Amino acid sequence: MSENLIVLGVQWGDEGKGKLVDLLTEGCNAVVRFQGGHNAGHTLVINGKKTVLHLIPSGVFHSHVMCFIGNGVVLAPDALLHEIHLLEGLGVPVTQRLKISLACSLLLPFHAAIDKAREKLLGKEMIGTTGRGIGPAYEDKIARRGIRAADLLNKKTLEPKFFALADYHNFLLKNYYQVEPLNSREVFDELLLNAEKIIPLLSDVGVELNAYRVSNKKILFEGAQGSWLDIDHGTYPFVTSSNTTAGGAATGSGFGPLYFDHVLGVVKAYTTRVGAGPFPTELFDEVGEKIATLGNEFGATTGRKRRCGWFDAGLMHRAKQINSLTGLALMKLDVLDGFETIKVCTAYRLNGKLINIPPLNIEEFSACEPVYEELPGWSTPTAGVRDFAKLPENAKNYISYLEKITELPIQFISTGAERDDTIISN
Ligand code: GDP
Ligand code: IMO
Ligand code: MG
Repeated sequence: MSENLIVLGVQWGDEGKGKLVDLLTEGCNAVVRFQGGHNAGHTLVINGKKTVLHLIPSGVFHSHVMCFIGNGVVLAPDALLHEIHLLEGLGVPVTQRLKISLACSLLLPFHAAIDKAREKLLGKEMIGTTGRGIGPAYEDKIARRGIRAADLLNKKTLEPKFFALADYHNFLLKNYYQVEPLNSREVFDELLLNAEKIIPLLSDVGVELNAYRVSNKKILFEGAQGSWLDIDHGTYPFVTSSNTTAGGAATGSGFGPLYFDHVLGVVKAYTTRVGAGPFPTELFDEVGEKIATLGNEFGATTGRKRRCGWFDAGLMHRAKQINSLTGLALMKLDVLDGFETIKVCTAYRLNGKLINIPPLNIEEFSACEPVYEELPGWSTPTAGVRDFAKLPENAKNYISYLEKITELPIQFISTGAERDDTIISN
């Protein structure tokens, strides 16, 4: 029996999912993106060569792996074609390895314009989105006025749908946000041009995945963002607009919930966040700066500096429940090389009480003060270590402490950005 696996971030994104998915798809037949859009930036480093993927699943470098973009993804045709073009330039025959759900909602240039105008209007209250149009695209989907990939197949029915939507968007841009509307005709013509290249890739992804399942093929579901950016379970409203948690893998692909075997949570050995919102263990001192510098913590999509802090076990407790996690992958352990001591947040103090699961209410979450356990660091580097036995004792102790406090096995340990700088521990 083959086993299907969900791999998702369990912090605020950028945990190193891309690296791990690239590595794990070696042993899979298919990889599926099920939510988000080109707000994601998944970095792969293979033999020293770095590639950042946004929409295309992180298994695309393997010739035996079929890549699927599921219905839960909001698909920007221009961004997709740009990415395909870049990968083809690297010699990757992407279109032979990629299939896109007919039920994908399209993300159009109007969505990005609204996203940016809205953030500008929010001023200091802004969410700090990636500006890619993700929120507005999901709004149209939920409001049942969106354009789907399948609509590209029929120009006659597409045209009225498109212009009705474009009128609505331009009305908003002009009258509510008071910015320049877009030229709908130009946007439409570009969409038709892009459609020609996308149509051959469209398929009924749910049916295809089921065929993989019945023939005992192994499928990996690749999450984008992280559990604490989930629209329902995250730090709302400082979240993205999709379900980044495990349930999204079923609804966003058409694969039945009982057919998943494992859910692997990807975590950094510390915590980062891009954009606004609460972050109890955030460091504002030179230690935070040191983590940012050593970890090269700059966004893979927007280049923004990531906020940095210590590992927060509270985030794991809720993530474990929502996702039914079966294990963790601990990334970027090497970034903690050389720290004299390392802190782990084990609980929060809120209104004089100790709690260990972060509250859902944003004001309460923001008021949580971390309670730390301090562990000794290590001076022998872990960077590039590929054998558990060769890790310094205190690094091993840190790993077993995290396993104890999260009550989850750490199945992978990453000690560098390179694909093979990885320890498979159990
Ligand atoms: P993703 O969005 O979860 O795929 O993560 P990103 O690609 O946005 O950010 C992770 C960053 O850390 C990328 O620059 C990776 O190349 C890098 N990275 C991944 N794993 C490791 C690791 O174990 N050590 C170090 N130093 N860098 C890593
Ligand atoms: P990957 O897949 C980190 C954050 C943004 C912002 C919030 C909403 O690379 O881990 P959006 O553009 O989605 O409406 O922005 O979500 N965000 C991410 N942070 N990694 C990501 O993706 C992110 N995608 C969105 O910074 O706070
Ligand atoms: Mg990223």
